[in-house]
Amino acid sequence: MGAVILGTGSCLPQKIVSNNDLEKLVDTSDEWIVSRTGISTRRISGKGEATYQLAAGAAEKAMEMAGVDADSIDLIIVATMSSHMLMPSCACFVQKELGARNAFAYDVNAACSGFLFALDSGDKYLRVDKGKKILVIGTETLSSRTNWEDRNTCILFGDGAGAVVLEYQDNPRGVVASNLFSDGTLWNLLYMHSAPSCNPDLQQPDNPGAHILMEGREVFKYAVKAMEGAIQDLLIRENIDLDAVDLMIPHQANIRILKKLVSRLGIKKEKVFINVQKYGNTSAASIPLALDEANREGRLQRGDLLLVCSFGGGFTWGASLLRW
Ligand code: UT7
Repeated sequence: MGAVILGTGSCLPQKIVSNNDLEKLVDTSDEWIVSRTGISTRRISGKGEATYQLAAGAAEKAMEMAGVDADSIDLIIVATMSSHMLMPSCACFVQKELGARNAFAYDVNAACSGFLFALDSGDKYLRVDKGKKILVIGTETLSSRTNWEDRNTCILFGDGAGAVVLEYQDNPRGVVASNLFSDGTLWNLLYMHSAPSCNPDLQQPDNPGAHILMEGREVFKYAVKAMEGAIQDLLIRENIDLDAVDLMIPHQANIRILKKLVSRLGIKKEKVFINVQKYGNTSAASIPLALDEANREGRLQRGDLLLVCSFGGGFTWGASLLRW
């Protein structure tokens, strides 16, 4: 009845950076970071681990699981805000890496909600053009967009990629429904500048460089309320009881946001997949990374109902239900 996930894959940089490592860069402590965020380690990219290379690595694993070769991919949608180039898109670099010569490719930028938005685009595309196979990828190297002197942000983020292969199937499996939102009026609570403009008239005097700036407390407040609202609305609209959800994979932003969300929803915590302690906030990569980990751990059985939700810069947020 919608886009079915045939395979999942993920790819992480080799280098593990601990909270103790960050103590050498900024005035912080392992105790502060763990208690405020739940994060213990994160992966940071090195040479040969650019955004598109992580994406291609994740895509290869997803294609292998799906039993699909690069020639049969028709569309590649990449969710990212940290590609090494603005043009061509990260998706075009992924196409080149994979040798997916029959695919067309483009990027989606919805910050941390990027994967959810890209998944929805893939699902809607497949409902119209049913014979296609689509790669949807979330990939980030936020280490390249982090001010390593700002202790408010540099402790939060990590690098990585996750991917899924989608196919339309005429059965109850697949994406059931999505509920997505944006509110651009709140842009200035979480944002990142581009490189300075070449046109003097368009230069922004307050552009400190292309790194993330955030009002953490405000983001926290909105994130919990927005994700809760998106989930509740979706469940009501689809006439589904929260108890019917077998697994919830939220965007892995911060353990305190997740705990608050879980308690407000009233979902059993054993049903919620969390890996933020290992990878930090990997933005658009966080849901597909967690999805691949959960899948390979056997946390998802055929017919299970999966709930995913996200929140990020824009603001952008939403929730989706999938029948596995
Ligand atoms: O996908 C969405 C992306 N964004 C997020 O998920 C972020 C959401 N926000 C948060 O998770 C939290 O707001 C943070 C973890 C970012 C911060 O936690 P907080 O409890 O809201 O702390 P705060 O910003 O209110 O700062 C409290 C204190 C401040 O010191 P003073 O002014 O009270 O003396 C900060 O300067 O903690 C200080 N602080 C730190 N101390 C040690 C801020 N960062 C650090 C740090 N280490 N890394």
